[in-house]
Amino acid sequence: MPEVLAPAAAAILDVQAITAGYGGPPIISDVSLRAARGKLTALVGPNGAGKSTFIKVVAGLIKPTEGRVTLDGTDVTGVPAQLLVRRGISYVPQVSNVFPTLTVLENLEMGAYTRRHGVKQKIDELCGMFPDLHPALKRQARTLSGGQRTMLAIARGLMLDPHVLILDEPTAGLAPKFIDAVWEQVLTVRKLNVAVLIVEQNTRRTLTHADWAYVMVLGRNALGGTGKQLLDDPEVVNLYIGKEV
Ligand SMILES: Nc1ncnc2c1ncn2[C@@H]1O[C@H](COP(=O)(O)OP(=O)(O)OP(=O)(O)O)[C@@H](O)[C@H]1O
Ligand SMILES: [Mg+2]
Repeated sequence: MPEVLAPAAAAILDVQAITAGYGGPPIISDVSLRAARGKLTALVGPNGAGKSTFIKVVAGLIKPTEGRVTLDGTDVTGVPAQLLVRRGISYVPQVSNVFPTLTVLENLEMGAYTRRHGVKQKIDELCGMFPDLHPALKRQARTLSGGQRTMLAIARGLMLDPHVLILDEPTAGLAPKFIDAVWEQVLTVRKLNVAVLIVEQNTRRTLTHADWAYVMVLGRNALGGTGKQLLDDPEVVNLYIGKEV
């Protein structure tokens, strides 16, 4: 078990002791995490630690061999991704997160494929939140900058008003000015009372913003705590932050 989990009472997402992999030996073992609405929960750790594998389990893309995923008290372990989306778990993968040859508008509409009412209103609302998208609605997504594409992916992930928004390294590969803009958007999403679960590379910055964070190492929970507790932990600083530029 992890050393420190976020309090259970406030958690909408409670992931317990997950073991999972890709058919061979487990890639992650006994990993737990909790996330609460209106909070930013971060998962950090070195390359290959199993962060993406873990969130694919939460998003319903991989079935765990052991453990449980509960959403608002309901067991959703093994529920496939396309059904989990309707239950309120939205997942934005690191790559291939928009359809490049579709327009921005079409991408947003695709994000709402199960929404019957209020699609236009939701798009208007998201264009207010992500101002770059409005003038680009009729353009193909492939013409957007990397930062704008990430914003489109996040906006698309919000089309169904999710309870939980999972973001896998949304700032990876972006120029610094776009990284700032994406972080600003992520913090805005938190204000919508969504439980934001973010995997990030830049540990210091992520811990600065995170309400609660988990460090994963070699497929296991290594540490957990508030962002501030981890930032103040010399072990975290030595192992994960010291090397950051
Ligand atoms: N589809 C796959 N099939 C088999 N093994 C995989 C697959 N995807 C990832 N792995 C392996 O699982 C391990 C963990 O990978 P994962 O992508 O979950 O790590 P990560 O923490 O997200 O790393 P990064 O920071 O580089 O994104 C790695 O050893 C990787 O090679
Ligand atoms: Mg990854």
